[in-house]
Amino acid sequence: MENFTAYNPTKLHFGKNVTDKLGETVGEYGKRVLLMYGKGSIQKNGVYERVMQQLNSINAEITEFSGIKSNPLVDDVSEAAQLGKLNHIDVIVAVGGGSVIDSAKVTALSIANNTDPWAIMTFKAKPKTTIPVIAVLTLAATGTEMNGAAVIQNHKTDEKRGYVSPLMYPKSSFLDPEFTYSVPKDYTAYGIADLIAHSLEAYFGEGDATLSDRIIEAVVKEAMEYGPLVLKEPGNYEYRSKIMWAATVALNGSTNHGRKYGDWGVHDIGHNLSYLYDTPHGATLTIAYPAWLKLQKGRIPERIAKLGNQLFGTNSADDTILLLEKFFKSIDCPIKLSDINIGKEKKKEITDQMLQTQINGMVHKLTNEDREKIVELMM
Ligand code: NZQ
Ligand code: ZN
Repeated sequence: MENFTAYNPTKLHFGKNVTDKLGETVGEYGKRVLLMYGKGSIQKNGVYERVMQQLNSINAEITEFSGIKSNPLVDDVSEAAQLGKLNHIDVIVAVGGGSVIDSAKVTALSIANNTDPWAIMTFKAKPKTTIPVIAVLTLAATGTEMNGAAVIQNHKTDEKRGYVSPLMYPKSSFLDPEFTYSVPKDYTAYGIADLIAHSLEAYFGEGDATLSDRIIEAVVKEAMEYGPLVLKEPGNYEYRSKIMWAATVALNGSTNHGRKYGDWGVHDIGHNLSYLYDTPHGATLTIAYPAWLKLQKGRIPERIAKLGNQLFGTNSADDTILLLEKFFKSIDCPIKLSDINIGKEKKKEITDQMLQTQINGMVHKLTNEDREKIVELMM
């Protein structure tokens, strides 16, 4: 086992009506609130009203910043930070999925340190402090509600990149599975795929961490059992709860203790695809994971087969990859670029992007030849 530090300061409230405590919690940090959300799903499903009732109950002075897009942009973060500074806000309330919560985390750093958000994302600025972020999660997928990570894209520098800081854990996160009933089928499936991918990134990391491996096995099995059920019955509270909690556990540290780090090469590939074609995050992963595994199967056959044994009862690396693809297909996720209408004519564009950004894993290092092969395998 590797040395590790376990740290997770987020207070997580899970279950029906947990947002009834939102006002009280926000009030602990002040009254000037920057309310951040996306393109309007929360206005259609009633979540906006529930949040406003809570904020009004503490007489909050609310500044709203909405319109954050899926695969969020640094320009929106900059704008939100300017608005936040102008209104001297005390606390950010982020209501949405990963895109909104990630944007809020970086906005908070940008306001507190009076720094350009991209300078933070690129490690040019070293933030020392932050302002509190309270998250109300509406989509089970990224784990951002209980971790210190954010992923943002920048069209000026041609990239989507991640940033991790202990300052970025939300102070509190509110997870009411009922708030996810309205998530459409495709994004529900992408969320299931994302949480499986987070577990696998840890699984292919560095270090012999058997307990974390067993936690991964449990999380992925939970997703594979309840994922198809929630897709059939999107309004089933138990199924939504199981997927929501599995998504949090997949990326709140629990799958990584005892390892140096996860690999994260597949996410790097995924971010390149999202950047180029605005492909939803989870969909990039169900295309990239099989390709990455096919590239690695001659290098780490035992590790892949061990995963297959735990998940599917097979001892073959090839079968493991096939069965994983079969699962992704069964929940209507793409497993090839052609499934999302990206044809061979884009091969050069994708390869160039991967070579330019030098996509890589932390553990399983990729050569330029590997990068080209992965693109071929995704076609
Ligand atoms: O724009 P809104 O109205 O919010 O609609 C969103 C969006 O269209 C919609 N949605 C969310 N909750 C809903 C809902 N629609 C109906 N009912 C609801 N309850 O779903 C769409 C997708 O939302 P988004 O926030 O983009 O999805 P997700 O949560 O999957 O987040 C994806 C982003 O998170 C990053 C990804 O790269 C991507 O940018 N990630 C963040 C991570 C982290 N911070 O730890 C790790 C992940 O690996 C990932 O990279
Ligand atoms: Zn992810």
